[in-house]
Amino acid sequence: MPHFFRHLNGAGWLLRAAARLQGSARSALWSLLAGWVGLAPAAPLVLDGAHGPRQLDGAALARHAQARDIDVPRDVAYQRPMRYRAVPLAVVLRELGLDPGDTLEAVALDGFVAQLPGALVLAQAPGQPQPWLAIEPDGAPWPALPGKAASAGPFYIVWPHDAGVRSEQWPYAVARLNVRAAPGQRWPQIAVAAQVPAGDRLRRGQSLFVMQCMVCHRMNGGGDAQVGPDLNLPLNPTEYFQPQALRQLVRNPASVRQWPTQGMPGFGPEQISDAELDDLLAYLAHMAGQRKVATP
Ligand code: HEC
Repeated sequence: MPHFFRHLNGAGWLLRAAARLQGSARSALWSLLAGWVGLAPAAPLVLDGAHGPRQLDGAALARHAQARDIDVPRDVAYQRPMRYRAVPLAVVLRELGLDPGDTLEAVALDGFVAQLPGALVLAQAPGQPQPWLAIEPDGAPWPALPGKAASAGPFYIVWPHDAGVRSEQWPYAVARLNVRAAPGQRWPQIAVAAQVPAGDRLRRGQSLFVMQCMVCHRMNGGGDAQVGPDLNLPLNPTEYFQPQALRQLVRNPASVRQWPTQGMPGFGPEQISDAELDDLLAYLAHMAGQRKVATP
């Protein structure tokens, strides 16, 4: 389906700049750009995979032979049942040339960067959850997300039969999908000490950190997101929080401190069990002893 894709032209940097804006500033700039550089009015999805950066047109994708109207009974972003025009994410993954050992990096307009394991998003076996890419229609934008000014558009990865897929693996407001090496290879500074045995709780904590926290935080300077602070540089939260307060902060940040622009969501036991939270906090504490000086 090569006609769905256009190579990025000189306007690429403008699109990237526009992708950083939010809400009404974002839509205003998109319409301006659309008129100026002759794009379709719908926001494009930028793909960076085996064939280099390309642009995918949302309106054309919504007309793809495999596009469907799908029901998502337990929608994570909207917290209610939703219906979307969507294509199986596999359609886009084929174009990206994603392998099971790679990571699919989903970059959102608000700086959130999800790292989705290739093996998870490529799973095809019956009974395994299948991801879909929901496309916000041109003329009929989705409602604003609960407590936010913007919708989950222009693109949103949903799991209609979620079967245990974690909340941070439902990236919304997606503007770009990149094929990347697994986070532990890309950023060796996030890894636990080499002598930690396979299957150790610290390694489980590291995977949880990558899935649930790295979408917004960096570790030892490793990571792409900067919605929240680096959790090891200059200091690690286990060095300045009482253990009980830190646990409480992850469960419900507003129960520790409150201000209007507070940005971190709480993680209930349905997202991170008590045992998993122990693993995650053990990983954080361990990393205080693995501090790396940030390389410029
Ligand atoms: C959606 C983005 C997001 C996610 C996901 C997220 N955080 Fe945060 N976090 C933030 C932001 C933003 C702050 C800064 C305070 C604020 O605005 O709430 C923060 C602050 C913190 C702090 C306080 C740091 C300090 O020095 O004040 C800790 C500790 C923390 N996060 C741990 C975690 C852990 C552990 C996870 C994973 C379970 C996580 N966060 C997931 C956005 C996020």
